[in-house]
Amino acid sequence: MTNPQRILAAVELGRTYSIGTQEVKAVQNVNLEINTGQFVAIVGRSGSGKTTLLNLIAGLDQPTSGKVLFEEQDMAEMNERELTEIRRNKVGFVFQSFGLLPLLSAFENVELPLRISGVKAKEREERTWESLENVGLIARAKHRPYELSGGEQQRVAIARAMVSRPLLLLADEPTGELDSVNARSIFGLFEEMVRSQKISVVAATHDSTLLSMADQVKEIRDGNLVESTHSGQRYRNPDSS
Ligand SMILES: Nc1ncnc2c1ncn2[C@@H]1O[C@H](COP(=O)(O)OP(=O)(O)OP(=O)(O)O)[C@@H](O)[C@H]1O
Ligand SMILES: [Mg+2]
Repeated sequence: MTNPQRILAAVELGRTYSIGTQEVKAVQNVNLEINTGQFVAIVGRSGSGKTTLLNLIAGLDQPTSGKVLFEEQDMAEMNERELTEIRRNKVGFVFQSFGLLPLLSAFENVELPLRISGVKAKEREERTWESLENVGLIARAKHRPYELSGGEQQRVAIARAMVSRPLLLLADEPTGELDSVNARSIFGLFEEMVRSQKISVVAATHDSTLLSMADQVKEIRDGNLVESTHSGQRYRNPDSS
């Protein structure tokens, strides 16, 4: 039976890269379920397949085997319009390197996805302030990225990813360029967003000190999801274990 709160499922998911005659099995036979209101950390060493897995889940890359179900629908069977809707409104993405536009202020960076989606000026403004407030950066709205600390820049990137009110936030090594204090603070923000906004967060990291902040920990080794020796701190949703 499918779980009504299930937002995303990977089913026997695989991605093999072919370089000449050599094959790299970056992700193999991955089965994974993400439920609403869940914070899942994916831990693994460099080259284990974290980025590949997140890109597949986000629909930014296509699997070579298996499938990804988003709200129970096979992403491979979606048309361009449906995929665009998911990328614009249902899934937010945060990268290790923040990816902010250097000439735009924090406010303008956060507002940009709403401009692209054609949201009207008044609503754009309200939602941008709301998103900046959620990451604690109202006071830095006019700053450009180079006038912000690394932790603040990542918060802007999170506000930008959240401004479209996605159901699922995917973060690829979001703390990779931050010190341990800022790293904990970003994971704390994810925890808080999952609790207050009932979204789901999937964050890849190689930093095992952050894992206790997630609800669930999945470990990836050589492209395979394995039982993790680390455990998340709590199971808020009884259906989520
Ligand atoms: N475009 C590509 N073409 C060929 N091989 C690739 C490609 N992208 C990734 N790989 C290979 O797939 C494997 C998984 O890479 P991936 O980037 O998913 O790892 P990762 O866990 O994100 O690593 P890191 O922690 O360093 O970011 C690696 O062996 C990598 O060399
Ligand atoms: Mg990676």
